[in-house]
Amino acid sequence: MISSTLLLEGLLPFLLLFSTPILAARSDDDTPFIRSIFLFKDVLKSNTTALQTSGFNTLIIFGVGVLANGDIMYYSNTPGSSDTLIASNGTYVGGDTLAAKVRSFKEAEETTHGDDDVAATGDVDRVEISMNAQNIRELMSTTTAESILYQNFVALKEAWALDAVNNDDESIYDTASTVAFAKMLGTAGYRYTIAPYTRTSFWAGVVSGANSDDSGGEEGKVLDRVYLQLYDGGAGNRPGDWQTALGMKVVPILWVVNDSKPQFGQTPAQAGERFAQWKEQDGVAGGGWVLE
Ligand SMILES: *[C@@H]1O[C@H](CO)[C@@H](O)[C@H](O)[C@H]1NC(C)=O
Ligand SMILES: *[C@@H]1O[C@H](CO)[C@@H](O)[C@H](O)[C@H]1NC(C)=O
Ligand SMILES: *[C@@H]1O[C@H](CO)[C@@H](O)[C@H](O)[C@H]1NC(C)=O
Repeated sequence: MISSTLLLEGLLPFLLLFSTPILAARSDDDTPFIRSIFLFKDVLKSNTTALQTSGFNTLIIFGVGVLANGDIMYYSNTPGSSDTLIASNGTYVGGDTLAAKVRSFKEAEETTHGDDDVAATGDVDRVEISMNAQNIRELMSTTTAESILYQNFVALKEAWALDAVNNDDESIYDTASTVAFAKMLGTAGYRYTIAPYTRTSFWAGVVSGANSDDSGGEEGKVLDRVYLQLYDGGAGNRPGDWQTALGMKVVPILWVVNDSKPQFGQTPAQAGERFAQWKEQDGVAGGGWVLE
């Protein structure tokens, strides 16, 4: 997944198009249709109100990474912002401002719940962090519940009120350590998600391995979502084929641009049509945006 800048300011008219009846609809079994967006920009610069009123129910914070010693960084990917160490030596160290910002994404839901006038706002009920697999194989060879890596993820979950960790591995592809890491996160109370664009059989092994026992606890399987890339290297992917291979529903994600640069991606209208087609044809679990 290419990291770039997310400028929510000024994009609201486009974001509003996303909450069309199709995407607001419930899927057949009445589980909520997943409407996700990857946040590439420093979340401190994201417009919380715009995010909460645009129909998304899942936010995925891009740019988290694990260091060789098990500490966790947040790479801002934004001019004028700096990278921040967020968990170290088993403790949250990212600061109150950042924690308050991330927690605020879900907070409107609580304050507006039950109020018909604002029922369309504050739909966000899940916040994930997205990382690659750097250092995970090495760290998982020695990780226990006492390890810094485990304690750091426990502390970060608490500080940011996180729901899941997304694995956007596009280079390492080590099944054993990926499965062990997913189970470790399940024990820490997280759900685990993936964002593949290629290597179907690797990911099928991760899904079956991660979900082979009760690491997910009473709430179900630890690996509960697949955000499938349908752009760039994944443009030729077919959601139905992946669903068959992985044995679970996927959320197709598209690279959506504003109308000024249609050559670099789908317009919101085109994306909406494709999400509707996939829902009809494959019964996909949702639709997601990767914004430029
Ligand atoms: C669309 O993208 C172009 C190029 O990045 C930018 O100049 C323009 O302001 C954007 N328009 C809106 C409405 O965000
Ligand atoms: C944030 O989004 C809200 C809702 O769309 C808008 O009214 C407000 O102007 C935005 N704030 C900034 C700083 O862009
Ligand atoms: C790491 O945490 C332990 C236990 O809380 C503490 O004893 C130790 O001094 C800490 N080390 C550093 C480098 O902060």
